[in-house]
Amino acid sequence: MTERHQIRQAIRHTRRQLTQAEQTSAAHQLVQQVANTQHLAQAKAVALYLANDGELDPLPLINWYWAQGCQVCLPVLHPFCPGHLLFLRFQPDTPMQVNILGILEPKLDIRLIVPKPQLDIIYTPLVAFDAQGNRLGMGGGFYDRTLSHTANLGPQPVGLAHDCQQVTALPIASWDVPLPELLTPTQHFRWR
Ligand SMILES: Nc1ncnc2c1ncn2[C@@H]1O[C@H](COP(=O)(O)OP(=O)(O)OP(=O)(O)O)[C@@H](O)[C@H]1O
Ligand SMILES: [Mg+2]
Repeated sequence: MTERHQIRQAIRHTRRQLTQAEQTSAAHQLVQQVANTQHLAQAKAVALYLANDGELDPLPLINWYWAQGCQVCLPVLHPFCPGHLLFLRFQPDTPMQVNILGILEPKLDIRLIVPKPQLDIIYTPLVAFDAQGNRLGMGGGFYDRTLSHTANLGPQPVGLAHDCQQVTALPIASWDVPLPELLTPTQHFRWR
């Protein structure tokens, strides 16, 4: 087993142990963090995700952004470009389906595709992060590919994680895209 695999297993186990009450409270703390951070609160178009595997739940944040009149998008697996994501506009009545990874996503409808440059922020799920802003995901490379051309241009990535997902230092690969910014329910990191 590689070190990356071991970290993924351990942190995924830890976050799945959070109780429903802890998850609910964390999700609402996240909304407060965003509401109190000007550049995040003022976004006009953001990508979020639906929680899976004990991830910090962005649903209250999605509702909050809708109430602000902000466009919310969700990632959809690209139908013929394996390993890549599309971002589709998400509204309360958007038809949804379960994708091959078992995750709920909007049904692909080309009229709902929002090109990446139109997004202000891509809130990025992750399994583990370290004190330098390095990020370890679930292992598909989806967000590394998505974020590989965004440095200084276009949407700003903002990692979302529970506090228990922080590790001292991650073993990093050449393709891993570090995060410039990350929110937990209690902390706001800005690295670069
Ligand atoms: N920009 C890229 N172009 C091509 N392949 C990539 C790119 N980024 C990552 N990959 C490939 O994706 C695979 C998984 O990468 P990695 O283990 O870093 O995933 P991850 O960061 O945990 O997942 P995710 O980004 O989906 O959360 C690796 O085999 C890597 O070669
Ligand atoms: Mg990676």
